[in-house]
Formats: sequence, C-alpha cells, structure tokens
Amino acid sequence: MCGIVGYIGPRNATEVVVNGLQRLEYRGYDSAGIAIHGEPEGLQLRRSVGKLINLVEHLSEAPARGNIGIGHTRWATHGGVTEENAHPHRSSCGEIVVIQNGIVENYRELKGRLIELGHTFDSQTDTEVIAHLVGHYYSQTGQLEAAVRQALGELRGGNAVVAFSVSEPDRIVAARLGNAGSVTIGLGDGEIFVASDMPAILDYTRTMIFLEDREVAVVSRDAVRMSTLTGEYVKREPVAVQWDPVSAAKGDYKHFMQKEINEQPRALMDILRGRIDQDAGKVYLEDLKLDDAALRRVERIYAVACGTAWHAGLLAKFIIESLACVRVEVDYGSEFRYRQPVLGDDALLLAITQSGETADTLAAMEEARNQGAPSVALVNAIGSQAARVADGGTIYLHAGPEIGVASTKAFTSMIVGAYLFGLRLAQARETLTPQQIREHIQALIELPGKVEQVIQQTESQCADLAEHYYHATNALYLGRQFNYPIALEGALKLKEISYIHAEGYPAGEMKHGPVALIDENLPVVCIAPRDPIYEKMLSNVEQVKARHGQVIAIGTVGDDDLAAKADHTIFVPETLPLLTPALTVIPLQFFAYYVALLRGADVDQPRNLAKSVTVE
Ligand code: G6P
Repeated sequence: MCGIVGYIGPRNATEVVVNGLQRLEYRGYDSAGIAIHGEPEGLQLRRSVGKLINLVEHLSEAPARGNIGIGHTRWATHGGVTEENAHPHRSSCGEIVVIQNGIVENYRELKGRLIELGHTFDSQTDTEVIAHLVGHYYSQTGQLEAAVRQALGELRGGNAVVAFSVSEPDRIVAARLGNAGSVTIGLGDGEIFVASDMPAILDYTRTMIFLEDREVAVVSRDAVRMSTLTGEYVKREPVAVQWDPVSAAKGDYKHFMQKEINEQPRALMDILRGRIDQDAGKVYLEDLKLDDAALRRVERIYAVACGTAWHAGLLAKFIIESLACVRVEVDYGSEFRYRQPVLGDDALLLAITQSGETADTLAAMEEARNQGAPSVALVNAIGSQAARVADGGTIYLHAGPEIGVASTKAFTSMIVGAYLFGLRLAQARETLTPQQIREHIQALIELPGKVEQVIQQTESQCADLAEHYYHATNALYLGRQFNYPIALEGALKLKEISYIHAEGYPAGEMKHGPVALIDENLPVVCIAPRDPIYEKMLSNVEQVKARHGQVIAIGTVGDDDLAAKADHTIFVPETLPLLTPALTVIPLQFFAYYVALLRGADVDQPRNLAKSVTVE
C-alpha cells in the first residue's frame, strides 16, 4: 500500500516529491519521509510519523532543497509506526537512500547475515535490510546500479525499490520484483519522475514507461536506461496516457474484474502490512477494540455475510475453529435475524462484507447489538456503515476499491483477514504457541508470491479452457473440506457473470443427487489439492469419470496421478491446507471471466446484479 515518488531535474525536488505524495496518501499514512540531495546542502533526510501534513510542517521548519529526491508514504508492515521505521532508509555508510513498497520475505535471514558482517540497524523494517545490502555491494563495486542489481537478486517477495547515492547524484535507480509494487516512470523535458502510481506525476507529464517484473531502470535528467535484473537491455516505447479517471483506473486491463484478479498479490500484501510480527510470533489488529480478556470470553462466533462474503464466512469457520478452538456458526445475513438467533454476551458477531453497506449484513449487526453481543466487521470500504457500527472494532481488508460486481480480490483478502483474526484469537486464548503462530505467519508472508505464481501460470490456461466450455449450459463444482466453499464460490462466479447454471457441492454429497446430472456434456470442476482429504477427492474424480463427465481438476503442482485421471488439470503451488482456498479460487475466477468474455456478457456489470446491495 505504500506510495513512492522520485524526481530528478531542474525543479526543487522537495516540491515535486511532496506534491506526488499528496496524491498517494491513500496508500498509507503511518509515516512519510523524503531524501533530497542538493549542493551545498548534501543529503537531507526528513521523516515524520503520521499523515503527510506532519512531514509538510516538518519541512516548513527544516526545508530541504535539491534537484534529486525520493519520497514515501508508509503503510507499516515490519516494525511499528515510528520515525526510525519511516522510509527512506540509509545504508551503513550513509551514502545510499532507499524506499520500498512490498515485503522482503527473507529479510530475517538477510539481516542475520548483514549483522554478522558488522552492519547495525536503526529500524525494525525489512526495507533497511535492502539499504544495507545495497551498501554492502556498493562498497565492493562502487556503482549503484550494479549494487542494486546484486542486492535485488537476493530478495524474495514482491517489491518496488527506488534508490540513489550521494556519490552519484545524477541518477535514480528504480526496480521492480514481482507484481506487488508497480513502478511508473514519467518523462518530462530535461526531468524525469518515478512513482508507484500515475496520479502522483500526472501534473507534470503524461508520457509514461512502466517497469515490468524483474526490470531495473537507471533514470537521469534526460534518459531512462532499462534492463532486466540479469542485465539484458530492455527497449520499451513510452505510452501517452489519456487521462480519464475510469480508463486509467482500469489500466491495461479490459475489465475491472480482470484487473482485480491480477491485483490479488498486492491486496494480500496490503492486508498483512503492519499486522504481523514474525520475530515475536504475534498478530496485531490495530482497529480491533477487543482486548485479550474480551477475546478469551468469546464462546461462539456468528460469521454473517452475503454472496461471496458468505463463502468467506464458511472458510472463516474452518480457520477460526482450527486455529483458536472457538465454535463458529455461519449465517446468511438475510436469514440470521429472522430465525431468532440466541446470542448472549459470550457471543461475537463477525460481519464479513466488502462494501460494508449490505443491508442484510447490517441488520444482523443490529440484531447482535440488541442482544448485547459485540460485532467485529471484516470489511473493505473504509468508513462504511459496517465499519462505523462495529462496536467490537474493524478489521479492514485494505484491498483497494473493488469495482467489478463479481468479487475477486475482496474474497481472497477476506480469507486472509479471517486468518489474521483466527491467529489473533489463538494468541489471546493461547491455543497456539508463538512458534506455531510464526509458522502460520511465514505461510501468510509467502502467500502473495504464490498467488502471483498462480496468476502468471494459469490465466492463459483458463482462457483456453473457456474456449472448450463456453457453450455449456450447466456446470458442477466439487470440493471437500476447506475447498468446499471454493466449489460454491467457483460456481457463483460462473453463474453471475456468464449466466451458465452452475452448482457447487461438497464432493461427498455428489452421490446424493448431483451424480444424476453427470453425462459427457457436463463440465465438472474438481478442486483436489494435496490436503488431508485428497484421497477422498480423488475417488470423487474417478466417480465422475466413470459417468463420462468432463473433469477440470485443480490440483497441487506435480500431481501426476490427478492429471492422469482428469481431462484438464490446473496446478497451484503448495501451501498450508487452510490457505489452499486462496490459491485454488484464482483459476476459477479466470475461468468464469474468460467464459463470460466469449459469451459476450457484460463482465463488470452483469445483468440484474449490483455491487452493494443496500436493500433487503
Ligand atoms: C452482491 C455482490 C457480491 C457480494 C455480495 C455481498 O451480491 O454482487 O459480489 O459478494 O453483494 O456484498 P458485500 O459488500 O457485503 O461483501
């Protein structure tokens, strides 16, 4: 979620960078900082905790001037909200300054190595590790570009990194690893801009170049030289951006849904930011109002939601029961209040909602309030009604605006949000040790990268599959245990945007009805990752094949047995079983998207549906 800006040219870099940060403040407002270099002042670092206005005030007392600079608005991930943790960070020699958007997954290992080499750290951030690592290689090569390249070669995770050195004040080096942090370079007349998002620099230029994954750009006043991380020269023509807020928001994507599917790695990084402490084995939920004692008192949780969010509720049940040993019931908002639920003060209502405005979910929250049970909202829209009325506090998804009616990134963020809540409960109730929590945190840290892998590897496969099946009139989705909710979600995605009738079923229930539907024309999506129930799922695949159904299997990478049985197989990487749904759902999102495209349906605004259902 962090915002990044850089500038080199004749203007005062402070003004350009601060102006850009103002356009990006929605990306994070835990702290802000800039590093400016000028003559005779040299390097001027200014950092302030809190909103950008604090930095602006700091700058009015201690101005900074120069023709090269970088700036950052922070959404805290590693390390609390303090001035030392604010970016930019410096190398040991103090010559190199670095800002980052992303997570360095292996920062602890790198930090350990650097400490052994004699580096001392001023902050708890993962970004400072990058600064020291660049500094380490700089001391060997004496060249910033080479040092950044070498350092980035050792990072795991998705990152956008921007750096400059006071010994080379004629260039900024910007790089991108993975899709979690975008880097845009804006070309001016004798000046060049760098930003995480176009709006930051649109006041100055509309001629843009976008860095791709594993590319490095060396930016001087009048030239950009781009290459891959391994050093191959990259030639890319600049794009003239026609500024129209809607199309620009869609970027290069044809539909918001496609864009939002692709945004999932970033969304998942954003929900984790500032909330996990790998060293301590702890989870922090900053807006949760329930303390440890209150969390220990909870005997029952009612997860209440509608639509896709209800599927996330089903997953929340698995997650919370397994991590925190608290009983969870899952309800549709529209059913909850009319069935006269008996809550009591040891119950907690967990409202799960992207918009925070769904009338039925809000009604359930009201029912809880009437019965004296606190509500916690797992919600995306900042300041929405659900967030306001949740007396037990809010867990924001931070997925960014979701425009496509068919929910995608909000869903995977809800899974991770429920996971964080499950870990927070486990921490309070001591159902997991800090070491066990650490292992879950590690899996969460690795999840955005795995989601990215699934996106890269399955989109075109799903587009091909859609060609096979877009004429289907029915489809069946089967899954077990943690992937039963994904069978429901996959079926919902297909029916809501392509208008094909689709049913999701727990695979074990297939023999009690749906099996009658199976013939050679029925596509049957079988979600069968290697999890504790894998063997059972494999038997279900065989049962479908015995009746000549067309099996589209979603399995764990390397599963040749499954591939031999299915007509088509799509693989996802391994993760903790409880997290597999965040991976297996992605090909189903793509499949629905491409089927709908081929059927000429209105993907982002399917007929009869609405994004926020504010009526009963
Ligand atoms: C509508 C949307 C769905 C969404 C559901 C619940 O049906 O089309 O995508 O899952 O509402 O919305 P919420 O905002 O509460 O998550």
